[in-house]
Parts: sequence; structure tokens; C-alpha cells
Amino acid sequence: MPSFEDAKKEFRAALAGAQDAPALEAVRIAFLGRKGRLGALMAEVAAQPEAERAAAGRAANEAKAEMERAFAAARAALDERESAAREEREWIDVTEPGQWPAAGHLHPVSAAIAEITDIFSTVGFTRVRAPEIDWDWYAFEALNMPKDHPARDDWETFFVAETRTQSAQGAKGKVVLTPHTTNVQVRALEKGVLPLRLININRVYRRQSDVTHTPMFHQFEGLMVDKNLTIGDLKGVLEHFVRAYFGPARAARLRPHHFRFTEPSFEIDISCDLCGGRGGSCRVCKSGWLELGGAGMVHPNVLKSGGVDPDVYTGFAFGWGVERTLTMRQGMAIDDIRILYRDDLRFVEQF
Ligand code: DAH
Repeated sequence: MPSFEDAKKEFRAALAGAQDAPALEAVRIAFLGRKGRLGALMAEVAAQPEAERAAAGRAANEAKAEMERAFAAARAALDERESAAREEREWIDVTEPGQWPAAGHLHPVSAAIAEITDIFSTVGFTRVRAPEIDWDWYAFEALNMPKDHPARDDWETFFVAETRTQSAQGAKGKVVLTPHTTNVQVRALEKGVLPLRLININRVYRRQSDVTHTPMFHQFEGLMVDKNLTIGDLKGVLEHFVRAYFGPARAARLRPHHFRFTEPSFEIDISCDLCGGRGGSCRVCKSGWLELGGAGMVHPNVLKSGGVDPDVYTGFAFGWGVERTLTMRQGMAIDDIRILYRDDLRFVEQF
């Protein structure tokens, strides 16, 4: 009679000693596998004398069933131990305070652009885009600027050698890096949808670099065209901006000036925050006022360039530098505006 009892005993001992999945698998192969201990005993059954074979067969089947049960139980126990260990290992305290990723923030110029856009949107101005690289026509000619205007000189403006637009050059002239955002005006007018109220904020380029100038900077340009617009409307919009951006303590004024694309034209000043508008010996302003930018009623010739009848419509426009506006905000003492573009985190992280 094959010794099933010994086999079962050894099997139980081996199971008890198997502490992990590979050890358990090794036990399974040794006892229950195809060439394992149980298989060998089964073969012995067939070799039993006929009279004992049936009893041996029963004993074999019982042993097999018992060993398989024992094995399943051992495997279940091992699984449970392993998952308990994993839970212990991988436990997460969901109440523990998180770690904040190091977050950046907008560059002060980008933040100013977003803020300016917001301020004008509350009085109905929609931000539109005009090309940074444009034809002389939109940058100068259509804006009533004479051929010999100094801004059209190589020493003021960057001209682009653009061969692909050669065919259009006859009509629209040379290609320039726009030196101001005013190029939006005729582009918007020629779309033919009036009235309009828009703002164009973009990069502009000029041949200049010193403590108050960078060769690339940003401007924002406002344009409103409708019937019966007056200088009063212009002043109202500008005062809204000055109050919203610089705070209620700062005053704005329009001072007569000259631009080719507006008539009449103004320079917009805001009261100096250092001396509170008193002027006198103030080292920043001298007069109590700081110059912000240009504005005026759109020149009839500009309206005509855009296909708008100046006898029916009037418009006002204004435009000035984002960087200048930003640095003139209270508390920003920047003695070299080029720091804005030097990628120096010690500077940028102050905002
Ligand atoms: N384009 C002018 C500049 O770059 C600024 C300006 C003046 C824009 C008067 C205007 C305006 O729209 O009406 O200096």
C-alpha cells in the first residue's frame, strides 16, 4: 500500500514552511505536479495486487483531495498575508497636508496686458489682433503719414526684406515690423462693420535701446468709431482706464499735441504719484504730471483710407506703451526699463 499518510504529513510540513509565493509554488510542483510525489504514489496504485487496488485507489483520491484543499488554504492564507502587508506599506493618509508644486506666475508685462484688456472690456472694447509684421500701408501710409515722415526712415523702423509679398508691394508698400499698434485702425475699418469698439495689444518694434526704451515693447491701441462721438467720449473712456488701473487718487488730463492720424490730437498725462500732482521741485515730474500716451479724434483721411465716410462717422483713438504704463503705476521704481526683458528671476519674482 503506497504511504499516503507520510506524503500528506510531509506535504503539510512543507506548506507550513513556505513563506512566500515562489516557495509555495515549489511545494506545489514537488507534491502535486506532473512528476510530483502524488503522481508517483498514484502510479504505485496501479501496481497493487488486484484485491487491494480499489482500496488503494480510494485512499489515493482522498489524499489527493485533501492535499489540494490544504494547498488552496495555504495559498489563500498567503494571499491574505501579502495583501495585509501591502496595505500597511502603501497606506496613504488622505488628511495629510499636500505638497504644493512650485507654481510660477505671469510675467509683469503679461499680467498688465491681461489687466488692461479687462479694464477696457468692462466698457465694451473687444480685443482684436493685428499683424506684427505688416505693410507700410497699414503702419504709415493709410494713417495719413507723409512719405518723408521720420518714422518711415530706416533709422527708426525695422523693414523686412520680404520677397513673397513682392506682388502686393505695389499697392501696400514695404513690409515693416510694426512700430506702433495703430496699424489696427485701417485694418479694422476696412472690414466695414460699424460701429466698432476695439482694443489691439501687441508687440511693436523700434530701433532704440536705453534706460527708457527697448527695441521690442508692447502697446495698446483703442479705437471707437460711431456716429456723433466727441472728445468728451474719449475723455470718459480714458478717465475710466486711469481710475481703474492707477487708482482713484490719480487724475488724467488731455494736453493738445500733434499726430498725423488724429485731429485734434492730445497727449494724455496722469498726475504724478510721487508729489501728488504738486510738481515744483519733484524730481520725477517737475510739473505735477507724467506723460502717458497719445490720443485724438480719428483723422478724416484715416476714416477714408478704411472706406468710412467721415461726414457720417466720427471716431476716437488712443495708444501707448504697456511697459511705460506698468512702470508708472504707484510703487514701481524702475530705473532701467530693460530689466523687464533680462529674464532675471530676482526681478520677476517680486511681482
Ligand atoms: N501710435 C502713436 C505712437 O506710437 C500713439 C498714438 C497716438 C496712438 C495717438 C493713437 C493716437 O491711436 O490717437 O506714438
